[in-house]
Amino acid sequence: MKPATRAAWDALTHHAAAGSGVHLRELFAADAQRFARLSVTWNDWLLDYSKQRVAPETMHLLQGLWHAADVPGWILRMRNGDAINHTEDRAALHIALRHPASAGPILHGGHDVMPAVHHELDRMQAFVGQIHGRHWRGATGEPISDVVNIGIGGSDLGPRMATQALAAFRHPDIRVHYVANLDGADLATTLAALQPRTTLFVIASKTFTTQETMQNAASARHWLVQALGEAAVARHFVAVSTNLAEVARFGIDPANAFAFWDWVGGRYSLWSAIGLPLALAVGFDNFRRLLAGAHAMDGHFFSAPPAENLPGLLALLEIWNSNFLGADNRALLPYSQSLGLLPRYLQQLEMESNGKQTDRQGQPLQCAAAPVLWGEPGTNGQHAFYQLIHQGGHLIPCEFIACRQPDFDLPGHHPKLLANCFAQSEALMRGKTLAETTAELAAGGMAPDQVARLAPYRSFPGNQPSTTLLLPRLDPHTLGALLALYEHKVFVQSIIWDINPFDQWGVEYGKQLANRLLPIIEGKAPGAGLDCSTAGLIHYCKS
Ligand code: F6P
Repeated sequence: MKPATRAAWDALTHHAAAGSGVHLRELFAADAQRFARLSVTWNDWLLDYSKQRVAPETMHLLQGLWHAADVPGWILRMRNGDAINHTEDRAALHIALRHPASAGPILHGGHDVMPAVHHELDRMQAFVGQIHGRHWRGATGEPISDVVNIGIGGSDLGPRMATQALAAFRHPDIRVHYVANLDGADLATTLAALQPRTTLFVIASKTFTTQETMQNAASARHWLVQALGEAAVARHFVAVSTNLAEVARFGIDPANAFAFWDWVGGRYSLWSAIGLPLALAVGFDNFRRLLAGAHAMDGHFFSAPPAENLPGLLALLEIWNSNFLGADNRALLPYSQSLGLLPRYLQQLEMESNGKQTDRQGQPLQCAAAPVLWGEPGTNGQHAFYQLIHQGGHLIPCEFIACRQPDFDLPGHHPKLLANCFAQSEALMRGKTLAETTAELAAGGMAPDQVARLAPYRSFPGNQPSTTLLLPRLDPHTLGALLALYEHKVFVQSIIWDINPFDQWGVEYGKQLANRLLPIIEGKAPGAGLDCSTAGLIHYCKS
């Protein structure tokens, strides 16, 4: 940690020690203006962080951390195309993927990347138009009704999540399916409901070498060729990759391959051709609206001061909770069925990016980085794990997301959804004291001995910090801005923790080990040198 950051960090450590023990309900009781003081708006969004365990002084010190770590300088480095992914010597220019053609150049190695970005977007648009217009025909002359995206990690989670999030905008004639898992059950159950004649496969892989994707692609190809013959591959397979040589080797016509670039990290690639299945699901105009929303958030992130900067605030609040209050996790709780896959998507974005313990100088980190992220949509989670958040004794900062307007407007649903969302954050903040519970039960007519026996079970500690993000309505523009918000939040945290959020050596290690074990499991290599547990598991499987 650099000396300036260390000084700001130490000030926060002292501040945390001085303020510990103050309950959130006391903070609310002491300041009727707390909501006005500790919430911000951006366009028609509202971020309420007044239920976090912070005081105005906390926010002032956290903003000091932003400046001490030179967040503005790092933003410039990213925008300038510097190799901020220093362990792979790559830039991280996902912002270029949503940069309008008219908004000027973005340079990478002295080269403007914008013409190539927009050329590829235009090719995608033409392709989506062909499919939706029923001009693209399968090998038997029939139009495409089903698209299967085969990819994993960043080549799956973004478009999969966004396709569900934008269910209200779906094209009526196209169904889009996602297959990621190496377990044959994923592909087999998807294909069981499909006809080869009307199915198009999108093979999505940045490297085009990922074992899971290559195995699923090969099996899908086999399924198609068995039904329609080898010549059908050209009409039923397209690819998205940075590795066009491997795409050609797989047998996909280069004319049907969509490119992106090594300066796009897999988990930051939804905005590139990796978004093709999403564009097929919701139409290209909506895909462009998604890009425009992300670009709007980029502009906010680049220009807003930390006190008003939504990604910055979320980043700083989580650093406060995890590094100074000791939380080791965060619950993401969207009160939106359509955002049901957001926790899973953000697990990759946040934990693959910042789940690290080596700093940019190659030294061990002096603090914990990314906390564990988990979550489920409300209200389902209320009937599963919320009990533990209320009374389980763990510090679990919660992030609620709700929309003021529903995307599917069934009478009676949305007010109840919002009531539940706000009730949970209120209950988690206030809790209920033993005295309050006792009075409540007595007022309800319960006998005094019963009250004394049950009140301890029905009391709640509260003081569980939460943030509520209120969106206007879930549409492509809002979704694009929401996802860009989290990308930038992760970036700010990486700057303060001084780690590279754009590599993932832990994942690469797992791939390396699986490749070593495969020939042993297949009986093509001896298992010498394995630990006795791994050897025992393999032996038991084979026996
Ligand atoms: O999970 C590791 C990872 O490298 C991710 O970063 C990436 O999104 C995923 O594998 C898939 O990689 P590819 O797109 O190259 O198939």
